[in-house]
Amino acid sequence: MRNPGLLRLSTHEFLQRNAQVYGDLVHYKAFGRHVFQFNHPEMVQEVLIRDAAMQHRGIVMQRAKFVLGEGLLTSEEPAHMRQRRLVQPAFHRQRIAAYAETMLQFADEMAIRWPCEATFDIHRSMLELTLHITGKCLFDSDVESEVKTISDSVTAFMGFLPLAFLPFPHLLLKIPFGFLGRIQKSQNKLDALIYGMIADRRHSGVDHGDLLSMLLASQDAEGGTGGMTDRQIRDECLTLLLAGHETTANALSFIFYLMAHHADAQERVFAEASEMFGGITSGQPSGAAEIYERLRYTQRVVAEALRIFPPVWVTARSAAISYTYRGLAIPAGSLLLVPQIAIHRDSRWFPDPMRFDPDRFLPDAIAARPRNAYFPFGAGSRICIGENFAWMEAVLVLASVVRNWRLGFSGTAPKELPLNAQISLRPRDGVVVSVKRR
Ligand code: HEM
Repeated sequence: MRNPGLLRLSTHEFLQRNAQVYGDLVHYKAFGRHVFQFNHPEMVQEVLIRDAAMQHRGIVMQRAKFVLGEGLLTSEEPAHMRQRRLVQPAFHRQRIAAYAETMLQFADEMAIRWPCEATFDIHRSMLELTLHITGKCLFDSDVESEVKTISDSVTAFMGFLPLAFLPFPHLLLKIPFGFLGRIQKSQNKLDALIYGMIADRRHSGVDHGDLLSMLLASQDAEGGTGGMTDRQIRDECLTLLLAGHETTANALSFIFYLMAHHADAQERVFAEASEMFGGITSGQPSGAAEIYERLRYTQRVVAEALRIFPPVWVTARSAAISYTYRGLAIPAGSLLLVPQIAIHRDSRWFPDPMRFDPDRFLPDAIAARPRNAYFPFGAGSRICIGENFAWMEAVLVLASVVRNWRLGFSGTAPKELPLNAQISLRPRDGVVVSVKRR
């Protein structure tokens, strides 16, 4: 499949009529802007790494500042690098290893509550689970009572996307009723929650060793000379809460959809998980982080799911200045798109691309592909800060669920999963699966 479009949707028709195609580079005009779409692994390196200094964030993230403030996702250099240095320690390997126990514990507790046999939307469960995990690991907070508020708020926030392309979105966001009013209310609720956490922590003065403590400490260390204000800490917390929970929940939902389809792969995950979680008597892993390291096949299942259904389906930038790319003039303000979904589904790098085959991620197969043919977590200085966190979480949750449950569909298995490609790629109507205790 060599599809110059982002998705096999009606955009394909639009592009056929309007686009100029230069090999793997596609140019068209949309929303009154020049749009350049880069469909080759080498272009991932050129656009996201080599030419990064000539770009700003994509238009959606620029406009998302009205809601997210100046957190890691939305900030520009040089502020971005400074913030990244402050946040990075929360994502160091050793710290993530400590989070692994929480991930496993929360996954086990969730699955224990399922009835012996049931059919339900597992996407909803994953949104709740990943929110609990992110809240606990990053803010040492049990956000149970707030889960619904946050889930609803995030859904409303995602609806902000269409506004990003309209003029004066900051004024639109001031309209206090209807859909726009709901976005505003969501923002207020999320703010109240996060400012509440900041105030509690300041009041107690206890160092929890989590992200929030680190951000508060960095402010203290820098004193009044440019340390982080409450507003900056709020922006960073909100960014991590949103970026960390939605994408991973979507990934897990896609993973379980694929597991329900592929009983053979599911049995291999079951066999591997059973062995790691106590089926063997000697040489057992000592903790959740070591279990994660040894779940090699389960890791490949996650990798393959992120290939077919990349939760961040396109990486966007805008040209900060006019420049030339491979002899082509890129005017300032152009929208630059590097679509994970098109490159991951290109038959040149992944033959028979829609076939689910975790062994595409065996070391030899990886070595045979161009370097950036697979980039679910992006590339360059803005590569996902939560990548290791997300891998650990997805693999451990998958293993924990499949160890105890057999997944399938009630009735005929659906042929396709309807998708909703907004800021993230999510299942449009959820993922309804049936589970049966093993
Ligand atoms: C499967 C799950 C995830 C996927 C597929 C994913 C994907 C991505 C991608 C592609 C980017 C780069 C965006 C760009 O270059 O414009 C990114 C950035 C980011 N991600 Fe993730 N992510 C995931 C999970 C997480 C988690 C668990 C966290 C935090 C707990 C997180 C926090 C962030 C942040 C803060 C950024 C911005 C980094 C920066 O600009 O410096 N993500 N993510």
